Amino acid sequence: MAPSPIDPANEDTLTRAADILRSGGLVAFPTETVYGLGADARNDKAIARVFAAKDRPSFNPLIVHVPDLAAAGALGEVNDHAVALAERYWPGPLSFVLPRRADSGLSLLVSAGLDTVALRAPAHPLAQDLLTRFGGPIAAPSANRAGEVSPTTAAHVLESLGDAPDLIVDGGACMVGLESTVVDLCGDRPAILRHGAVTREQLERMLGSVDDASVPESGQAPRSPGQIAKHYAPSLPLRINATDPGPDEAFIAFGEPGGKNAAVIRSLSPSGNVIEAAARLFALLRELDRPEFTAIVVAPVPETGIGRAVNDRLRRAAAAHED
Ligand code: TXA
Ligand code: MG
Repeated sequence: MAPSPIDPANEDTLTRAADILRSGGLVAFPTETVYGLGADARNDKAIARVFAAKDRPSFNPLIVHVPDLAAAGALGEVNDHAVALAERYWPGPLSFVLPRRADSGLSLLVSAGLDTVALRAPAHPLAQDLLTRFGGPIAAPSANRAGEVSPTTAAHVLESLGDAPDLIVDGGACMVGLESTVVDLCGDRPAILRHGAVTREQLERMLGSVDDASVPESGQAPRSPGQIAKHYAPSLPLRINATDPGPDEAFIAFGEPGGKNAAVIRSLSPSGNVIEAAARLFALLRELDRPEFTAIVVAPVPETGIGRAVNDRLRRAAAAHED
């Protein structure tokens, strides 16, 4: 059996991780949102390996991770909105889509043919440490095969990608547990392309009104390729906003358990906290995605704060089985 690519986060592991990135390899590492599958963002071959490992449609561009706004400015055309948001929310779970600089040196594949680039400064100390040791931009989509829910532990990464990463840096469970908010700052009006931990209300407080482009209007091409409805899906069908699980179904409650007939009952947050729910969502979907159940039934989650991002992921996971 091949040795496991998982290693605990320590000096040696992080030094090795930076070396692997420099030689064009793939390193999965924790961020505060989810685990990323990292590669040198300037190396076409390394980026091509990321797409291959994820089995990702190559039209779906990757987020490039940087230590801070100064580093972002070398890659994208930073504007006033980006400066204001970075001062408040970076490092943190917020990605900006900006016009890509002609002299960015980024692999064209990172942007999948678009003339824009998504940039994020992650808050996780291990991600920051890796960025410092590597000394360059790290492209990192979530470290899962395309269409699966994002990994929030090193074991999830292994489950999903096997030994495709040369190294999986184990930094424990991710605090936020959902992917970053993606906001498009290229136009006159900022637009949310993906909901996440930084909420629409928080963005509007800084920027004034913000468009919600997270669900493309019918007949319109998505502004963000990752918006396609089918995404983040377990293999079992999902019933959402439901409190009536049957005896063959797994139930995910929010707050008080309920759902007494279910084969198994879990709760996103026994105390009814949406932040805790976000942090537990993907791990619970993975845990319950087993053939002995016929479906996963999820109780309603309040549409407030990060609850909107939780509901967004749940709707997409449910839509994956509609046709
Ligand atoms: O929290 C996160 O953002 C995680 C961690 C690892 O940082 N990364 C992540 O990356 O979720 P990924 O590749 O799974 O999702 C990137 C999203 C996709 O929906 C993609 O379509 C969108 O960002 N995106 C990337 N570049 C874009 C661009 N230039 N224009 C519009 N959307 C873009
Ligand atoms: Mg992803």
